[in-house]
Amino acid sequence: MRKKIVVGNWKMNMTFNEGKQLVDDITNELASHSSDHVLKIIAPPFIHLAALSEKIKSLKGFEVAAQNCHHLSNGAYTGEVSAAMIASTGANYVIIGHSERRLYFGENNNLLAQKVNIALANKLTPIFCIGENLVERNANQHLEAVLKQLKEALFHLSPADFSRLIIAYEPVWAIGTGVTATVHQAQGMHNYIRSEINKKYGKEVSTTISILYGGSCNAKNAKELFACIDVDGGLIGGASLIANDFAAVINSVVK
Ligand code: 13P
Repeated sequence: MRKKIVVGNWKMNMTFNEGKQLVDDITNELASHSSDHVLKIIAPPFIHLAALSEKIKSLKGFEVAAQNCHHLSNGAYTGEVSAAMIASTGANYVIIGHSERRLYFGENNNLLAQKVNIALANKLTPIFCIGENLVERNANQHLEAVLKQLKEALFHLSPADFSRLIIAYEPVWAIGTGVTATVHQAQGMHNYIRSEINKKYGKEVSTTISILYGGSCNAKNAKELFACIDVDGGLIGGASLIANDFAAVINSVVK
């Protein structure tokens, strides 16, 4: 059985007090429903990581992720945060390769491969994002676009290291737009990703790795997306900032 996972990526939202309140509200919202079958991961901004890590990790079934890490171990890189620093806060996960990092901060697959390496070396689990943009989707080149990201950023890993990853498929055109991939599009791409992983790493790795969907996933559409056979949960942006929406998304994961 693959692990079912829902990740809340807060992006650059939430002051410290708002973040604490949100965690309390999510806990209250989830209290009436068993969500033990879902690993719940919250990714606050770096600045809250240490303080919120303690709070979040005291909750059953919750883990903490950073939203990014630097690709080198330490040094004169003002304003940056290393994988070792993240691990020292108690966070066990790190989002790498988010399309906003690729787009606004110029992160390419070569750099992202280095980030994955340093995260793994520091015993962090990368939640690695891949996904095509609208031009690629409209040109029917979405499969090639995603395969290129997999090959250039991840396929250098050994099978043992690759199997430590969580993959998130986030079509760029669906992020924050209110346009969600259809069930057909999501299942089609997740199945394709799994088949390429199978080709490279074999059946054991490809059938056990969790592949999450992200991009305007919310309380209304999560159930049908998560019902897809190759969709193992979600990477949630906007809806993770509203406690009852995030709880509803978590409760959409079938046992
Ligand atoms: P939205 O859920 O706001 O579309 O964001 C998705 C995302 O980018 C999560 O990392």
